[in-house]
Amino acid sequence: MVFSSILQACVLLGGASSAMGQGFDHSLYTSSPPVYPSPNTTGAGGWQNALSRANAFVSQLTLEEKASMVTGTTGPCVGNIAPIPRVGFNGLCLHDGPLAIREAVYASVFPAGVTTAASWDRGLMHQRGIYMGEEFRGKGAHVALGPVAGPLGRSPYGGRNWEGFSPDPYLTGVAMEETITGMQSTGIQACAKHYIGNEQETQRNPSTTTFGTSTSQNGPVIEAVSANIDDRTMHELYLWPFANAVRAGSAAVMCSYNRINGSYGCENSKALNGLLKDELGFQGYVMSDWLGTHSGVSAVEAGLDMNMPGGINFLSPTPSYWGENITIAVNNGSLAESRIDDMIRRIMTPYFYLGQDQGFPTVDPSGVPLNFFPPSTWVAEFDLNGTSNRDVRANHAGLIRELGAAGTVLLKNVNNALPLRTPKNIAVFGNDAGDLTRGLYLLNLFAGVDSGNEEFGTLPVGGGSGTGRFSYVVPPLEAIKAREGRNGALVQYSIAPSPPDVCLVFLKTWASEGSDRTHLEADWNSTAVVNTVTATCNNTVVITHSGGVNNLPFASNPNVTAILAAHYPGQETGNSIVDVLYGDVNPSGHLPYTIARSAADYNVPITNSSALLNITDPNAWQSDFTERLLIDYRHFDATNASILYEFGFGLSYTTFGLSGLGISNVCGGANGSIPRTPPPGSVLPGGNQVLWDVLYRVTATVQNTGSVAGAAVPQLYLSMPAEAGEGTPVRVLRGFAKVSVQPGQSVQVGFDLMRRDVSYWDARRQEWVIPNSEIGVSVGFSSRDLRLNGGLRA
Ligand SMILES: *[C@@H]1O[C@H](CO)[C@@H](O)[C@H](O)[C@H]1NC(C)=O
Ligand SMILES: *[C@@H]1O[C@H](CO)[C@@H](O)[C@H](O)[C@H]1NC(C)=O
Ligand SMILES: *[C@@H]1O[C@H](CO)[C@@H](O)[C@H](O)[C@H]1NC(C)=O
Ligand SMILES: *[C@@H]1O[C@H](CO)[C@@H](O)[C@H](O)[C@H]1NC(C)=O
Ligand SMILES: *[C@@H]1O[C@H](CO)[C@@H](O)[C@H](O)[C@H]1NC(C)=O
Ligand SMILES: *[C@@H]1O[C@H](CO)[C@@H](O)[C@H](O)[C@H]1NC(C)=O
Ligand SMILES: *[C@@H]1O[C@H](CO)[C@@H](O)[C@H](O)[C@H]1NC(C)=O
Ligand SMILES: *[C@@H]1O[C@H](CO)[C@@H](O)[C@H](O)[C@H]1NC(C)=O
Ligand SMILES: *[C@@H]1O[C@H](CO)[C@@H](O)[C@H](O)[C@H]1NC(C)=O
Ligand SMILES: *[C@@H]1O[C@H](CO)[C@@H](O)[C@H](O)[C@H]1NC(C)=O
Ligand SMILES: *[C@@H]1O[C@H](CO)[C@@H](O)[C@H](O)[C@H]1NC(C)=O
Ligand SMILES: *[C@@H]1O[C@H](CO)[C@@H](O)[C@H](O)[C@H]1NC(C)=O
Repeated sequence: MVFSSILQACVLLGGASSAMGQGFDHSLYTSSPPVYPSPNTTGAGGWQNALSRANAFVSQLTLEEKASMVTGTTGPCVGNIAPIPRVGFNGLCLHDGPLAIREAVYASVFPAGVTTAASWDRGLMHQRGIYMGEEFRGKGAHVALGPVAGPLGRSPYGGRNWEGFSPDPYLTGVAMEETITGMQSTGIQACAKHYIGNEQETQRNPSTTTFGTSTSQNGPVIEAVSANIDDRTMHELYLWPFANAVRAGSAAVMCSYNRINGSYGCENSKALNGLLKDELGFQGYVMSDWLGTHSGVSAVEAGLDMNMPGGINFLSPTPSYWGENITIAVNNGSLAESRIDDMIRRIMTPYFYLGQDQGFPTVDPSGVPLNFFPPSTWVAEFDLNGTSNRDVRANHAGLIRELGAAGTVLLKNVNNALPLRTPKNIAVFGNDAGDLTRGLYLLNLFAGVDSGNEEFGTLPVGGGSGTGRFSYVVPPLEAIKAREGRNGALVQYSIAPSPPDVCLVFLKTWASEGSDRTHLEADWNSTAVVNTVTATCNNTVVITHSGGVNNLPFASNPNVTAILAAHYPGQETGNSIVDVLYGDVNPSGHLPYTIARSAADYNVPITNSSALLNITDPNAWQSDFTERLLIDYRHFDATNASILYEFGFGLSYTTFGLSGLGISNVCGGANGSIPRTPPPGSVLPGGNQVLWDVLYRVTATVQNTGSVAGAAVPQLYLSMPAEAGEGTPVRVLRGFAKVSVQPGQSVQVGFDLMRRDVSYWDARRQEWVIPNSEIGVSVGFSSRDLRLNGGLRA
């Protein structure tokens, strides 16, 4: 990569902590507070009947069967819990991932999480969840390993950011909730992952594991990176969207590879027993990320409920901390059997709640050869007598095409460049325009950095376990040719012979699990490609297919007349972009992150201690989250830095106005009548239920002031007063809506503010607190286009 050495230097130089960051005393983060014992499930939140059935189920099991219920085994899926035919239990099939059922043929590949977030469309988020759930169910998978809220996107370099939604926790929280309720409405279990602080791939695992990113060591085990996070930042940023996931009834949560304050994610009692099960009232089960379990009794007591993939290192059974060791530990008195019973209740309650004991489809045998485990290694009998090669795609391509367009953000549009009207001569450039050249599957997780980043071929989604296996891809060039048909424009791939009316340059940016990005520009000499085209073409439209932040050095080039950030749209990528280019769809996507002027402007690099490894310090990898709350737009706003395209920004082919800010106290109380800390309420999934009470409703009127119909995304931001403390962001997103408006028409939108939305986390009181002074209220079309301003005081 020609740019990486230069930009990496920028990264290191740009790594200074934010100007507003408080001092960060690393010595306070070398251990995680112990929180024991692990809370028992109560079935709170409507799962009581299912819990009774889970109780009855547990009471029938032998200790050996109990151990097998909590430990993965070989089988037909990426994760497997063995059947127990004696009690009529057919086992559990767990499959990747967040945008498709990955190890399957005849399945759809949906737009990635980042694309979904860029749509800012709750309805499409929900529908995507439903359709993905239907596909998992159709293939016989009980558990879908998604959606993703970790990484949140602390660093723009994070290799997996695109699997999740946005570095803004509110937007991600809404997307988690819509996805999970959509998926689970089909009888599938969702698994919110990766919990928590999994903000980088580099050294996500200890150096000796074969399933990480680290080079093997001959010396001591070098432990995984430790995400050192203060309690307020944990609550207001990283835990926030997981609270939405728990509230939405997520059956499972996957703990992460990294350490938090020095303690591994899958044996961190503060994170699992304390935050997740006690504070958020999580009633489902915690499963480990694959090979992320590093202990037996300790992990069990810290709150881990299921070990995946179990005593298996992908191809063959290996010794396990769990399995038979669970039986031994109970028998020798070091582990209470009641804890194992609670683990199984947590696993089986959502199973019964979602009706998975009632005629759930058996596993599609066509997935077996796509999986790690050859049947010769299986120790348990799974039912593979069902129909093979089931086509679960149904009519989902329509939604995929629509969401791909809805998640495309128009960043620049001058000289009426777009929509294309009736061009006679279109020139198409860039290695992202044409068809895939190396097959329809971008897994390559094990092959090292950038190996899936083939030079030629469009990039519809990223790589690793979060990818999908395509049955087809519509490449942009093919879609443009199809749109123009026989009697349309000349579609050429060079400037000569006649000057084109418009030049379309398609760029791509690879991202994958297992490695972090090393630069923020689009790949493959993208800037040189754009500059070469613009030298002779003064109407150049640049389209990026990317998993997130790209800095755009050509943005001010006057010959670049339009820029579209098209993200990772999935299998209909070409059709989605053609719909936007030609104005069949009016773009309505908005950035779910900030595009800075230069890579050096971002404040959070990947923690990289590679150069220190020869020191042989097992704890060399320490990632202090010194920027605290100030990631993405919160960082740029804290320093009032000039940026290129801010969080929430996106153009349309029409224009919108905003008027009539209204703020009402929904509870009807006069100012001052609302208690500042939540009155003790029952802890339901999502935490103290009082936190989810709507206290205020903000309204505004959106007017379409242009000449074509379009969808606007009005956004509500709150500004906490000084009493919220040093390091409080200037403003935070706390509401959004997406509304279609006809030209000349107006539509009123409303934003509900819940108690959590108008509170900050007081670490000393260990409570959400509503400030005494006025909270600033702004409504606009981006985080820096705030047109209506007011205030509310509780
Ligand atoms: C991490 O350490 C900080 C500072 O000691 C503490 O406030 C926080 O609760 C800890 N979090 C976890 C998950 O250990
Ligand atoms: C969980 O329930 C068991 C009985 O099944 C009890 O012995 C144990 O104390 C309970 N644990 C907690 C944390 O309440
Ligand atoms: C039990 O765990 C130990 C490591 O603590 C391992 O050496 C042993 O092989 C395990 N037993 C089984 C049956 O997997
Ligand atoms: C009990 O068994 C577990 C699992 O094999 C083992 O780790 C532990 O050391 C044993 N404890 C005693 C007291 O034998
Ligand atoms: C699958 O079918 C075979 C042959 O009919 C039968 O022997 C086997 O028991 C069946 N397996 C299951 C799990 O039903
Ligand atoms: C980390 O540093 C090593 C060399 O010290 C380099 O090869 C690697 O690309 C860096 N990783 C990232 C994500 O920047
Ligand atoms: C970028 O272009 C230079 C020549 O200008 C070439 O040597 C290099 O390989 C290119 N890099 C990539 C990633 O294509
Ligand atoms: C813009 O295009 C014109 C040709 O129309 C060319 O003369 C000029 O140099 C180009 N400018 C840039 C910055 O590429
Ligand atoms: C853009 O280029 C076209 C054809 O090359 C030329 O006719 C036109 O004048 C140029 N426009 C500008 C503003 O330079
Ligand atoms: C680490 O040590 C090995 C073996 O001595 C050496 O080859 C390598 O260059 C060293 N790496 C660094 C970053 O110093
Ligand atoms: C932020 O920067 C803008 C543009 O440079 C300036 O107009 C504004 O006054 C600044 N605001 C603050 C609070 O410094
Ligand atoms: C509540 O406070 C806001 C500003 O803080 C003020 O505009 C409004 O009039 C107050 N409402 C009542 C009912 O006192």
